[in-house]
Amino acid sequence: MEKLIISGGKPLRGTVQISGSKNSALPIIAATLLTSEPCTIRGVPNLSDIQFMSDILRWLSVDVKHHRADGVIEARAQQPLGVAPYELVRKMRASVCLLGPLLARLHNCKVSMPGGCVIGDRPIDMHLKGLRRLGAEVVLENGYIHARCNELTGTDVFLGGRFGSTVLGTANVMMAATLAKGTTVIESSACEPEVEDLAEFLVKMGAKIKGAGSHIIEIEGVEQLHGAEHTIITDRIEAATFMIAAAITHGDVEIKGARPEHLWAVREKLEDAGVTVERTNGTVRVKSDAAWQPVDVITMPYPGFPTDMQAQMSALMTVTPGISVITEKVFPNRFMHISEMSRLGADVSLEGSSAIVKGVKRLSGAPVMASDLRASAGLVLAGLAAEGETEVNRVYHVERGYERIDQKLRALGANIERVAE
Ligand code: EPU
Repeated sequence: MEKLIISGGKPLRGTVQISGSKNSALPIIAATLLTSEPCTIRGVPNLSDIQFMSDILRWLSVDVKHHRADGVIEARAQQPLGVAPYELVRKMRASVCLLGPLLARLHNCKVSMPGGCVIGDRPIDMHLKGLRRLGAEVVLENGYIHARCNELTGTDVFLGGRFGSTVLGTANVMMAATLAKGTTVIESSACEPEVEDLAEFLVKMGAKIKGAGSHIIEIEGVEQLHGAEHTIITDRIEAATFMIAAAITHGDVEIKGARPEHLWAVREKLEDAGVTVERTNGTVRVKSDAAWQPVDVITMPYPGFPTDMQAQMSALMTVTPGISVITEKVFPNRFMHISEMSRLGADVSLEGSSAIVKGVKRLSGAPVMASDLRASAGLVLAGLAAEGETEVNRVYHVERGYERIDQKLRALGANIERVAE
């Protein structure tokens, strides 16, 4: 295992290139199961989660070639198998998005239940409800979701839940509906850019989809889909993480490839906090030389403030004078990073699904333990701001979603090293 050692306090300066979106790439790779023809996906980030997804597809007998240096995946699912086993699925919850395409293609599949997750309870009831509405019989047996049907039939499907819409649930139902008989209307669909990107890929494969990116998606089923090529969008969460990295170090960073239209909520909160965010086409520049103001943040489904940026924003607020309240409305227990930030001197108390953050003058470096991907990003940012040396252990969590984060930060002037634990 490796860890990151960060000597904080250096302002970041320069330009960073944002990689392709992990959360777009994962369901898009799964969507290649919908056709026997070859598909080519470009702009794929080199991350362990992408590796997990490729490995599962290979297990399913899909011919997957991953050209890591070029960020290209070629996949051909001539005769996929229909069983995704626990040993592979447990490594990555996102494997649940195999369910929709496997069911649509094979009419009979088994995908292991993904199991627990440190960011909180993550039920998949809405995925299953959606697939049942399309006519599938779905049962849970021996730790597997077993879904089968004679055919899938288009209908209306409501996917709103207690915590809003579901991103991968929308992806699953949308993928299944592409090959259903008739028209499916998904109401209260997730409108994240990653869902829109998946829809774009499916349309290139011959699917008929309208409304992706809104809360109502209409899918007219077709007989079959064909191979397609697609370049995935850049990663808005990686871009936003670098925005906060620039801010928290009082730096000046140009973030290339960032799509400003995907970053409204983060930009607004940073501006409210007194950070300068300039947008040009394909670039966002973040500068911060003045004192920050505390801001209250509530995470919400897109276009609200992303839950995947909560830990990083919390890091910024720990060193912002005054009191800010950060409320989690998507994953109410996603606060594992808070006790680790306290090890760095942060003053944060948890009240239900809110973190009350009292900004301190400075954080001081210490060893901390990453618990999941975004928590570890938050700890890396806190380490960049802290005085002295911060060790972020279990760096493999960061590598699930940030391509070469240590190299990218080093190129901006950060004092960060990766060493064996
Ligand atoms: N939910 C249900 N029932 C369901 C599905 C979801 O109650 O059937 C609840 C969840 O428990 C949660 C809320 O609905 O409270 C939203 O969950 P959602 O289904 O949207 O999450 P997801 O699709 O499993 C994706 C991202 C997550 C991101 C969330 C929210 C991928 C691969 N994962 O997960 O990304 O946090 O949407 O935006 O796209 C990450 O990248 O670190 C990450 C966790």
